[in-house]
Amino acid sequence: MTTLELRGVGKSFGPVLALSAVDFDAAAGEVTALVGDNGAGKSTLVKCIGGIHRIDAGEIRIDGTPQHLHEPRDAAQLGIEIVHQDLALCDNLDVVGNMFLGREKITRLHTLDENAMEQLAQQTLASLSVRTVRSVRQRVASLSGGQRQTAAIAKSVLWSSKIVILDEPTAALGVAQTEQVLDLVRRLADRGVAVVLVSHNMNDVLKVADSIAALFLGRMAAQVPRTDVNQTQVVELITTGRSGELGLPTEIGATT
Ligand SMILES: Nc1ncnc2c1ncn2[C@@H]1O[C@H](COP(=O)(O)OP(=O)(O)OP(=O)(O)O)[C@@H](O)[C@H]1O
Ligand SMILES: [Mg+2]
Repeated sequence: MTTLELRGVGKSFGPVLALSAVDFDAAAGEVTALVGDNGAGKSTLVKCIGGIHRIDAGEIRIDGTPQHLHEPRDAAQLGIEIVHQDLALCDNLDVVGNMFLGREKITRLHTLDENAMEQLAQQTLASLSVRTVRSVRQRVASLSGGQRQTAAIAKSVLWSSKIVILDEPTAALGVAQTEQVLDLVRRLADRGVAVVLVSHNMNDVLKVADSIAALFLGRMAAQVPRTDVNQTQVVELITTGRSGELGLPTEIGATT
């Protein structure tokens, strides 16, 4: 079943038409990559889904039901979690503090239930087979980029998000850390989450995505199954907005 559907979505900022008649689908259990050049409208689309921007036209449906997202809380209540690249975590808190920020567990004596939160944080990381975060009591300021992304993704798992949107999660990461984060992205989808991956990195996209959606100047150039396209075709979509030879077979030896 499709979890998230956008139909005819439009968004303007004054005279700037940032999104125009955009259709987009993200299915449960799949990784949907959202690609496009600088200024194509990716972040705007993500913010519309997250309730940060209100759409001017069209519809956002979740499990077939049209939803009105007026603020981030509306999105959170529907199980939508956005992992922003830099602003996802608070540096001065540890991993546990971040995972429960704003949703803390309280004891009967009205104090913070640190033990319960620590255990749940540990269980969540363990359930994702995360071995890279050594202590959940480590301050986020001292974590590496990959560990921070891991903690942010684990947070979305802890709160049983149905739709997780990752905005450029590997942009600042080295090779090994990128591998770990992409692994985690895959595992998240395998748990039945609809994962949207915003990325400029063609290797990441081709490696992990099930479906690829390309925005070009605020319009959806195409959304295609990963297996239907090769790198050249995705780059063409991003740079020209045209699907060109997309209808033709892509097997080796095909005359395209
Ligand atoms: N708050 C805003 N006010 C006015 N214009 C905006 C605002 N946010 C985005 N835009 C405009 O909307 C268009 C799409 O921007 P957006 O940030 O969505 O692009 P993007 O695809 O995320 O690009 P990048 O890859 O550089 O992050 C741009 O022309 C941008 O200038
Ligand atoms: Mg952006």
